[in-house]
Amino acid sequence: MNDAALTPLISLRGVGKSFKDGQLLALQGISFDVRPGEFVSLVGPSGCGKTTILRLINGLIAPDEGEVLVKGHPPVPNLDLAMVFQSARLLPWRTVAGNIDFVLSLRGLPRPERIDRVLALLGAVGLRDFADAYPHELSGGMQQRVGLARALSVEPEVLLMDEPFAALDAMTRETLRTELLRMWSRRRMAVVFVTHDIDEAILLSQRIILLRPRPGRIEEIVPVDLPEPRWQHDPRGQPAFADLRAHLWSSIRAMARDGATLEELARAFPDPDGPGLADR
Ligand SMILES: Nc1ncnc2c1ncn2[C@@H]1O[C@H](COP(=O)(O)OP(=O)(O)OP(=O)(O)O)[C@@H](O)[C@H]1O
Ligand SMILES: [Mg+2]
Repeated sequence: MNDAALTPLISLRGVGKSFKDGQLLALQGISFDVRPGEFVSLVGPSGCGKTTILRLINGLIAPDEGEVLVKGHPPVPNLDLAMVFQSARLLPWRTVAGNIDFVLSLRGLPRPERIDRVLALLGAVGLRDFADAYPHELSGGMQQRVGLARALSVEPEVLLMDEPFAALDAMTRETLRTELLRMWSRRRMAVVFVTHDIDEAILLSQRIILLRPRPGRIEEIVPVDLPEPRWQHDPRGQPAFADLRAHLWSSIRAMARDGATLEELARAFPDPDGPGLADR
């Protein structure tokens, strides 16, 4: 690995953030780096500040304490970063192609180049035949695919994803995870991915940042050393996968013992196969 690959692309140093005139301390002492091309997941109970961390990284809000740097500078909204949310947030009055084209036109790309890029992206997410459809004509999974294509259209160095698959059914979620892994191995943008699903975090990421709530702090950073590309070698049957899973659940149970209520944690980690929190 060369030096450029080791220099952090995103860097949070002692970041604190509060809301409601300082009455609500949302984040405290958050420090971590994301290297170029790295896939990092943020995992933790509701309210621990995951979305707030993404908003700090893309410059929508500024920290009260510490610093957030993207490529060595405080982030400028929408520069080199793209965001994908739980729902696709497409413009309902524009077609599928029009939604992506709109983002590219904002960047000043000439029209012929835009058309080529839109069609290539729709091909990559399996929606080329739906270029002229309107968002309401698509399923939730298809809309989320358009959202992903739109985010990738600007060739971001950083993709921020806030529970992008949480509202989808299990099978669609599985397909989209595979597509995301495939695109990531091809394009190697850095990804910061928020999820409540422990298995999803292990399956996708190279590192998992486990957060605890009130105030949001880092509980543990867990490296995920599983073979890649994982869309070709599904690691879920491997002992290393089971070990990581057991380790993360034991940290979560320790958090429960430390104060967060069982109900909160059960809601936050609704993994049907996960060890029952009530059994701790
Ligand atoms: N703009 C805001 N104004 C006031 N409070 C806020 C604001 N944004 C976030 N908060 C508070 O900060 C804390 C962290 O919120 P955040 O949305 O980052 O949590 P989260 O980990 O993303 O939760 P979830 O898993 O439910 O999405 C919460 O207590 C939330 O109420
Ligand atoms: Mg959130």
